[in-house]
Amino acid sequence: MLSENVTNNLKRASWIRAMFEEGEKLRKIHGADKVFDFTLGNPDHEPPKAVKESLKKMVVEDRPGIHRYMNNAGYEDVRQKVADHINKETGLSLSSKHIVMTCGAAGGLNVVLKSILNPGEEVIVLSPFFAEYIFYIGNHGGKPVIVTPEKGSFKPDLNLLKNSINEKTKALIINSPNNPSGYIYDEETLRSISKVLNEKEAEYNSSIYVISDEPYTKLVYDNAKIPSVLKIFKNSFVVNSFSKSLALSGERIGYIAVNPEIADLELTIESLVFCNRTLGYVNAPSMFQKVIADALDEEVDIESYKKRRDLMYDNLISFGFKCIKPQGTFYLFPESPIEDDVQFVKDALKYNLLLVPGTGFGLPGYFRIAYCVSVDTIQRSLPAFEALAKDYGLK
Ligand SMILES: Cc1ncc(COP(=O)(O)O)c(C=O)c1O
Repeated sequence: MLSENVTNNLKRASWIRAMFEEGEKLRKIHGADKVFDFTLGNPDHEPPKAVKESLKKMVVEDRPGIHRYMNNAGYEDVRQKVADHINKETGLSLSSKHIVMTCGAAGGLNVVLKSILNPGEEVIVLSPFFAEYIFYIGNHGGKPVIVTPEKGSFKPDLNLLKNSINEKTKALIINSPNNPSGYIYDEETLRSISKVLNEKEAEYNSSIYVISDEPYTKLVYDNAKIPSVLKIFKNSFVVNSFSKSLALSGERIGYIAVNPEIADLELTIESLVFCNRTLGYVNAPSMFQKVIADALDEEVDIESYKKRRDLMYDNLISFGFKCIKPQGTFYLFPESPIEDDVQFVKDALKYNLLLVPGTGFGLPGYFRIAYCVSVDTIQRSLPAFEALAKDYGLK
């Protein structure tokens, strides 16, 4: 018999997967060019030239040992370069020892959660959230506790946050810029969260970690600034990856940065490295550690994402949809014109539009559009969105 836990999770529908399967059906009937698939956050960009150059160099040059096992934390020189890069951006003083190279942000999140959680301990997740968090927390015996935002906003409801913390609360996950909303938590919001955590830590004589999941930090528009979580929360980890910033999602490369001021620093780092090893990742992909070290200042063409955001956003608003303009990522998270976002997404199928209901991200009443598709696809989809808007009597 298989694990009950896993088979139960399989039954908890993954909306993205369900919509992908709907899409397959529609593509067979109408042809791929007639179906507008906005479900997957899979970047359609190619990695920047510097990434390809570095890879080429890696293959052409003889680098003995590059295919071997290494320190489970990753190459020392790569970790130092990642630390220097963070220091340059934040003014902090991290060194190679504060960095653990991981198999993407997904690997990094699992390593952190494995390192900190005892069975039954709770992790606060701010909705809307990346749906996989629920499974990652469950992987390590934890229990997710969802905190919804203030009405009509994506700012966390601080009263709800206060009331959700108890003696079992071990961590809080922040994801900014946020998947699915593209929202960025500003410094004031982060400082108010910090105040709540400090008060609750004092009340319960406990320590609550902050895990900042940051794969979209380079995908920001209009000069939006992302405050450094490491500067605001002492007991914090940053989890980052190059899946989106360098369009390397298939290569599984990322890192954890540990706050130098975290409690029990040495034991914390040792635990992370141990979990990276024993979860079976062993170490992050060897060649791609070297590649990203050559390309830390690079990024994909952000302007082209901005062009798509503006095209999609401006048109949706003109059709009468309501949406908070995203400051980053490649997602839009408009309000569903009807309360039942699942029904709305089903209705959109009649125009061959594939969307994901907000319910899948812990916030019903919304839907997600992943606009990391070609401008041509966006343009051809617009009449479908307009027709859908008319069906609901939007302007
Ligand atoms: C918010 C968020 N966190 C983590 C991940 C996982 O990223 P990675 O490919 O680096 O594992 C994703 C991927 O879409 C994401 O959107």
